[in-house]
Amino acid sequence: MFDLTGKIALVTGAASGIGEAAANVLARAGAFVYVADINESDGVRVAEEIKSRGAQAEFLRLDVAENADCLRAADAVHKTHGRLDILVNNAGIGHVGTIEQTEAEDLDRLYAVNVRGMFSLTKAFIPRMIERRSGVIINTASIGGVVAIKDRLAYCTTKFAVVGFTKCLALDHAAHGIRANCICPGRVETPFVKARIGEYPDPEKAYREMAATQALGRMGTVEEIAASILYLASDEAVFITGSALIIDGGFSVGK
Ligand code: NAI
Repeated sequence: MFDLTGKIALVTGAASGIGEAAANVLARAGAFVYVADINESDGVRVAEEIKSRGAQAEFLRLDVAENADCLRAADAVHKTHGRLDILVNNAGIGHVGTIEQTEAEDLDRLYAVNVRGMFSLTKAFIPRMIERRSGVIINTASIGGVVAIKDRLAYCTTKFAVVGFTKCLALDHAAHGIRANCICPGRVETPFVKARIGEYPDPEKAYREMAATQALGRMGTVEEIAASILYLASDEAVFITGSALIIDGGFSVGK
């Protein structure tokens, strides 16, 4: 089950949180993993930790918001391996606010990373995937891409776009042997979420309230989310494309 031996994978936002856990689990399943991130020190750390466990990884500095970086990344991967089998577009940033508390610049910034980033990187890799008639794309959306979350106007706007982007990719490229899916995590305890919680006047109270919004009464772990990325990347998920997999501890179930 979930054997990725010989596969080449790239995970964005892999220096932290869900991306780091995804890089770890894909490498453990046998893939060569590019740990792609703007954060060089943590990215190098993640790649070195993977290698110290006898698996294969390499850090790749990449700002997904920069198209030139995306093109360079694809060139580098193709030069070394001739292909990319698994692309995990996971890098993302957040923002708290209603429309009154959100400036156009906030929306542009979130859009550039959360949506245009995965657009540019996928666009850089997909011609070779089409040529080879093979490829798996997994995008990190959010439960905020399926239902509205209060005070998250810009964030939810971009994550609904990720779900739409994923479904279009799946439809357009099914005939090319490419599968595209996205995952929709609920609240997961990562540096990303801790930073958001820190913005509240009473962070401890905010933490308790956030955990209580999920039917299971707790936040998810990065490993629980990474497991779904591993599954979607594997041949066990060969009949799944265009799906938005909800992994939210029941955040949305009663809404
Ligand atoms: P995190 O903040 O722990 O990690 C995000 C990583 O992305 C960081 O290493 C950061 O350096 C990198 N990054 C940021 N901008 C980048 C850019 N322009 N180019 C390349 N790398 C960049 O965040 P976390 O929580 O692991 O989030 C990962 C993804 O999961 C995001 O897309 C987020 O929206 C999504 N998500 C997170 C949830 C949560 O509760 N933590 C819930 C639902 C979705």
